[in-house]
Amino acid sequence: MSPSIREIQQKKKNSEKISVLTAYDFTSAKICDEAGIDIALVGDSAGMVMIGYPNTISVTMDEMMVFCRSVVNGSKKSLIVADMPFGSYQFDLTLAVANAVKLIKLGCHAVKIEGGIEVVPLIQRLTEYGIPVMGHIGLKPQTTILWEGYKVQGKTCDSALELYNQALELEKAGAFSLVLELVTKQVSEEVTRALTIPTIGIGSGPNCDGQVLVYHDLLGLFASFKPKFVKRYLESFSLNVEAVKKYKFEISTSVFPGEEHSFSISNEELSKFTKYLSILKDKHHIENKI
Ligand code: KIV
Repeated sequence: MSPSIREIQQKKKNSEKISVLTAYDFTSAKICDEAGIDIALVGDSAGMVMIGYPNTISVTMDEMMVFCRSVVNGSKKSLIVADMPFGSYQFDLTLAVANAVKLIKLGCHAVKIEGGIEVVPLIQRLTEYGIPVMGHIGLKPQTTILWEGYKVQGKTCDSALELYNQALELEKAGAFSLVLELVTKQVSEEVTRALTIPTIGIGSGPNCDGQVLVYHDLLGLFASFKPKFVKRYLESFSLNVEAVKKYKFEISTSVFPGEEHSFSISNEELSKFTKYLSILKDKHHIENKI
């Protein structure tokens, strides 16, 4: 069974770290489950790693719903948090609530919303309606990249104070936890200490209450680019390419499929089949001659 929101929050009180990993489909959800990951985050990073968009801005609700449904189908033991994509919550409170409800109806346990003070009314509304919300501050990929690209946040006193105040406001609004993305480690430590809700860091140092990584980064499914904060636990891309190359080679050399990958007809049925086949061939031969 998946942990409840309260059980996740209790981990902070018990000084137990919270493990979060993104999942986008049935298989990655099953792997998270099997590994005992606390929270499977259906991140809108799906747009980049699963669809190939250059960033998360283009991701739609329809696309997120497919990813969420797939993760719900594969996950039994992790808490599932669904990212609300850009444009699904900014413009109209009622529409935002309706979109969050869609994700919860699919079987997700909570939604994640990027933003500071501007999303406080939405977090209040969703929480009043019983929908748990994970906040997300620091680098907010849906919008920060429009202004300044992927930059570490909280490097000046002003920016640190802004993050600190945002975190307090989001907790007050009812967020059950808070992602801190690409925030300097000293600032994320202060924020973590100030909050009663757990902080989940990505590129924000070791003192957050939990950590999140993108599934494809952890497994090294992309060879080309590795941000400083990512630790690759496997070099899957090269391992996959090697395996596929071997497959291609074995097709070309008739090594695959082998005897063990083939199925047989019984001798009795085979001799009947051969007999009928020779009759058919003779018939065909005669017809072609006429
Ligand atoms: O979309 C995502 O994967 C995220 C995490 C990086 C926090 O928001």
